[in-house]
Amino acid sequence: MTHIVVLGSTNMDLVTYVAKAPQRGETVTGREFHTIPGGKGSNQAIAAARAGATVSVIGAVGNDAFGLRLRDTLEHSGVDTDFLRTVEGPSGTAHIVVDDEGANSIVVIPGANGTVDHLSPGDEGVIASADALLLQLEIPMAAVVAGAQAAHRHGVRTVLTPSPAQPLPPELLATTDLLVPNEYEAVTLTGRTDPREAAAALLDLVPEVVVTLGATGSLYLARGTEPLVIPAPRVTAVDSTGAGDTFVGALAVALAEEKPVREALSWAAAAAAISVQRAGASASMPYRPEIEAQYTA
Ligand code: RIB
Ligand code: NA
Repeated sequence: MTHIVVLGSTNMDLVTYVAKAPQRGETVTGREFHTIPGGKGSNQAIAAARAGATVSVIGAVGNDAFGLRLRDTLEHSGVDTDFLRTVEGPSGTAHIVVDDEGANSIVVIPGANGTVDHLSPGDEGVIASADALLLQLEIPMAAVVAGAQAAHRHGVRTVLTPSPAQPLPPELLATTDLLVPNEYEAVTLTGRTDPREAAAALLDLVPEVVVTLGATGSLYLARGTEPLVIPAPRVTAVDSTGAGDTFVGALAVALAEEKPVREALSWAAAAAAISVQRAGASASMPYRPEIEAQYTA
């Protein structure tokens, strides 16, 4: 079976649903409030597990009630949490406002994720056993770099979601096999406004790039091949929180199973399309049979 390892964040998402997000200085009345497990690392782990892989997550939760629920949610999705530490202090939280168009804005407070600034004993061993290592940028950069370097020492493919957007150190770029920015991140990383130009510029830095284009789909570029544009299924979005993570988790599984790239991207798009039609990050992620049912070649 495919084995995916995720090194990254686990957050409790504190989600407010409101018709329109407030402007600065404005007070509005929202509709509903929910606490839903999230965090880019945990989201990608859950997405990959539900898509059919064996998944281990490396990271940290706090010794609070959120930490217990976050660990529990991962385990219920079948994710191995042996490398998820419990540390003194609060778990990570994400303060999210979702509007009637399903669009969101997010403030993340790292909490326990901030303690993940190095690899701990055992982490390199589990990374070495993986088909792919998934990374994002919600834990300190030092650990992201150490994880990517460990993966490369063992010939393990690395998939980096450069989010939250920030400059990427050369030693991380040198050990990134597949970079998956959204449009905003592609623009921030390159200064180009056109997604195609941004992707092309990123291809000078890493061998493979997928730019996710939200409802439009995705754009794939690899050195020496023609760019691929993969459309997304047309659906009505309720909550797009974690859609990018769902896409990456499912994509990593499909690629590790050696599905052809075009098929893997459509498969991941199907998974993300299901997730945007339901509320919450982890709560909205599909299981493999649902992806198969939505997927059209
Ligand atoms: O990518 C979505 C995630 O970003 C949310 O679950 C939230 O926790 C933030 O980390
Ligand atoms: Na969702």
